[in-house]
Amino acid sequence: MQVNLRESWWIRDVEVPTRLVLAPMAGVSVQAFRRQGRRYGAGLVCSEMVSCAGLEHRNERTLGYLRVGADEHPLAIQIFGSDPAVMAEASRMVEAAGADLVDVNFGCPVRKVTKTGAGVMLLDDPDRACSIVEAMAAAVSIPISVKLRRGLENGSRVCLDVGPRLVEAGAASLTLHPRSAKQMYTGVADHHLTAELVSLVDVPVVASGDVTSRARAQAVLATTGAAAVMVGRGAQGNPWALREIIDGDCAEPTREEVAAELTLFVRETVRELGEHRASGFLKKFYGWYLGRGRFPRPFKQELVQLAATDEVVTRLFAASPGAAEIVERLEAELPDPQDEILLDQMPISLYGGG
Ligand SMILES: Cc1cc2nc3c(=O)[nH]c(=O)nc-3n(C[C@H](O)[C@H](O)[C@H](O)COP(=O)(O)O)c2cc1C
Repeated sequence: MQVNLRESWWIRDVEVPTRLVLAPMAGVSVQAFRRQGRRYGAGLVCSEMVSCAGLEHRNERTLGYLRVGADEHPLAIQIFGSDPAVMAEASRMVEAAGADLVDVNFGCPVRKVTKTGAGVMLLDDPDRACSIVEAMAAAVSIPISVKLRRGLENGSRVCLDVGPRLVEAGAASLTLHPRSAKQMYTGVADHHLTAELVSLVDVPVVASGDVTSRARAQAVLATTGAAAVMVGRGAQGNPWALREIIDGDCAEPTREEVAAELTLFVRETVRELGEHRASGFLKKFYGWYLGRGRFPRPFKQELVQLAATDEVVTRLFAASPGAAEIVERLEAELPDPQDEILLDQMPISLYGGG
């Protein structure tokens, strides 16, 4: 039986228009990535993880993660940390910034995060994990969602104990990436565990891990009972994967389409991060995008070596003259830059100066 991915579902009172969610990915989930995800069928997009300590200290770069575009809703902003009071305060800032959901990270296995007792470490300390969710739920009126791994060790089933407790503590939805922390991204995501978690809780569960095709999305939804699938690595530099998953449209993008999407991505990212940060940040995307569109082999390398992003755009247009017209159309659909929220005008400036 085919599952209809263009069907809405709800996280409490937040309607998510499709059963496809774009994963939070550190170093990837900039606004351009999220907007593009929405255009290609994601019903819900998420920021990368934001440090609650950075928010507490009003770190300017961290506050920048709280920018919410008018065309991004529904949007979750993900926070990480291990102190319930600080996480509660960070949730208030997320709500004030205009996010529809505040997502909490109980899955990150990276040392920088785990050494502070945050991320996946909280699966080993369920009382603290529940206190965090309780404090967040008491602090805001938007729903709290939680993203977790299966546990720390290979074969762990800890998510099945902690998940229902987090729901009792106030989580309105759970996302499970059923790999252990130890696995990082090796092996496979064991979605048998996702099915078990679905049977244990009465809130929507999102299945994350190894969904890269429509066939896989259909199989995961049908066999787990999850409300939605989340796509991460499969969408890096490849929004067309989202289109294939949601609509079964397998058409390979033309060179013009690839160049146009990459150009828009470059320009928007420069606007968000500034030229200096964006030029380094974007390099990995060139390789990801240019796997499609039959670009000559050395082209990718040429782009990576260019210092300025406007030179990258010049090369892209030279290699695919039809792209400029597509970019113009895509840019016309963006919200008016006048409506863009600037950092010093953000609602969270209420909290500034602290
Ligand atoms: C580069 C990268 C960065 C990630 N950053 C985050 C993050 O900030 N927060 C989070 O909850 N998960 C993060 N993840 C995990 C993904 O959200 C997702 O659960 C995982 O990649 C499995 O899905 P996939 O097989 O579709 O990639 C990250 C994954 C990757 C590859």
